[in-house]
Amino acid sequence: RMGFTVAIDGPAAAGKGTIAKRLADHYGFAYLDTGLLYRAIGRVAAERGLDLDDGEAMGAVARALDPAVLDDGSLRGREAGELASRVAVHPAVRSALTEFQRGFARRPGGAVLDGRDIGTVICPEAEVKIFVTASAEVRARRRTAELVAKGRSVDYATILQEVRARDERDSGRAAAPLKAAPDAALLDTSELDIEDAFRAACRIVDASP
Ligand code: C5P
Repeated sequence: RMGFTVAIDGPAAAGKGTIAKRLADHYGFAYLDTGLLYRAIGRVAAERGLDLDDGEAMGAVARALDPAVLDDGSLRGREAGELASRVAVHPAVRSALTEFQRGFARRPGGAVLDGRDIGTVICPEAEVKIFVTASAEVRARRRTAELVAKGRSVDYATILQEVRARDERDSGRAAAPLKAAPDAALLDTSELDIEDAFRAACRIVDASP
């Protein structure tokens, strides 16, 4: 399919990354985890000792971002996620990333992008939009299990608090807040395992005109 875009949005730890990657593999589309862009900017800014609340300075970091840094696996950690949600509030950061994401979305072979504002701001014309959610409790339980499996000592209450704080920051900001596009299909994964969630997402893609 030519220039076919699948936009996947939702809060942290709802399963959207896993679903997006599986969809990309299944349909042979390219995949972009857009959270990595914000994570990389937060990381670079923190390393340079810059003020994360300075929108102009963060915009400059974003404009100079080299997409090659996205391969750094350590960006997926909790600290980088926290830094990401702080720099993501700035319009100058978001606008610096828009063209790169739109270019990716229009790849001739099809693309899956996941993030917070893909269906609402980056690709409002996407052929498929899915908003992936799950209750905060379920997301915190999954995140805790993931971290424990990696040998970290974390407790559920702390993770739940982090999940809620991140939801609030992402949904409450003025620039491109986290919300479902009016025409997005809702996929609540609270009661689904990853296989069922993936199959439900495939049905949504296959039902698109
Ligand atoms: O999805 P991930 O957890 O990697 O995103 C980290 C943070 O980056 C989010 O909490 C959000 O603040 C920001 N983000 C965003 N827009 C996107 C993707 C991520 O604002 N499209």
